[in-house]
Amino acid sequence: MRLIFQECSMIFTLVNLVGALSQSFGQKDAISTTIINFNNEKMQITWATRKLFPGKNVSFYYTFEEGKQKYWKTCPTYLLTQDYNSGCLFKTEGCTLAFSIMNSNGSEELFSKRLKTDFYIKPNRPENVTFFWKDDTVTVTCNKPERGVKCLRLELQYKSKYDKGWQSRTSKCCRVGEQGFDPRKCYSFRVRLKRIVPFCNVVDYSSDWEAETFWMNSILLDSCDDEIKTQSNTVILLSCLMAVFLMIFILLILLCKWQRLQKSVMPTIPDPKYIFTDLFNDHSGNFQKMLDHNQQHKGFEHPGTGEDLHIREVSKSYTLLD
Ligand SMILES: *[C@@H]1O[C@H](CO)[C@@H](O)[C@H](O)[C@H]1NC(C)=O
Ligand SMILES: *[C@@H]1O[C@H](CO)[C@@H](O)[C@H](O)[C@H]1NC(C)=O
Ligand SMILES: *[C@@H]1O[C@H](CO)[C@@H](O)[C@H](O)[C@H]1NC(C)=O
Repeated sequence: MRLIFQECSMIFTLVNLVGALSQSFGQKDAISTTIINFNNEKMQITWATRKLFPGKNVSFYYTFEEGKQKYWKTCPTYLLTQDYNSGCLFKTEGCTLAFSIMNSNGSEELFSKRLKTDFYIKPNRPENVTFFWKDDTVTVTCNKPERGVKCLRLELQYKSKYDKGWQSRTSKCCRVGEQGFDPRKCYSFRVRLKRIVPFCNVVDYSSDWEAETFWMNSILLDSCDDEIKTQSNTVILLSCLMAVFLMIFILLILLCKWQRLQKSVMPTIPDPKYIFTDLFNDHSGNFQKMLDHNQQHKGFEHPGTGEDLHIREVSKSYTLLD
């Protein structure tokens, strides 16, 4: 009974505390704001202004509750969405922050919140990242940040061009290693710093990725595309050569065939000049006489030879002329 009473009173105290907190800091609605503390240097607080405060240009006030007094400050740099204030940027000046979103003239509070800035840290990119290779093993290190090293993890991601997704490996700041790299493959690597959740951050923030680097058999490359490019270039060159050879081959075959065809089908193309020399010299212009003469000499044993065809053609045209 006493135990239950104790529990109840504890819950009651907790409820009271939460109530008191939300009252004292004027937490009106649990609207969603996005809070980022960039490397414990700069705060960025944003809100979906069009959804939350349509048609209103709200104003933002904040204070760091260090020491006894609270000095409320107006937002030094607003972020705008379609010309309406949708966020505020300001310097991180302490651990405990209270902010308030008011209507435009500051007469009505629309939202407020109090928070520990440490829980919203987004770290900077790792600095001075070095890769140390030994056989198929890589060890990546970076400079230790000045503050909060215990809250940081160094994350290494890598992939070869045959991998679809990134492989990930995370370790204590500021050293991470991985092994089993194929010396024939080119790998992309990237690293970032992560804040530990939920012990250090309430939101899962990581730094941006440090620029990708490319490695093959412990040698730093400009990119892994080179490998693909040179390969495809060789392929293109080879296929071009093949195509050229094939065309030459086909042309040669055609030439041979053509020569054979010429010999068998059209022995020699007769020059009509000579037909008419015959006509005028031997037969004194009498075409019928020449035809008879030719038929006597050649007969019809070789019908369809070039000469015969020609003569028939010529005789036809003569008939037409008559
Ligand atoms: C809202 O206020 C900001 C400055 O606080 C101003 O730059 C902006 O033009 C205002 N927008 C509208 C729609 O009045
Ligand atoms: C502030 O603006 C509200 C409307 O947004 C208006 O009702 C109120 O009278 C204004 N107060 C002052 C002091 O101008
Ligand atoms: C980067 O690291 C190397 C070796 O780890 C060190 O010699 C150099 O001073 C570092 N540079 C910076 C800017 O910290």
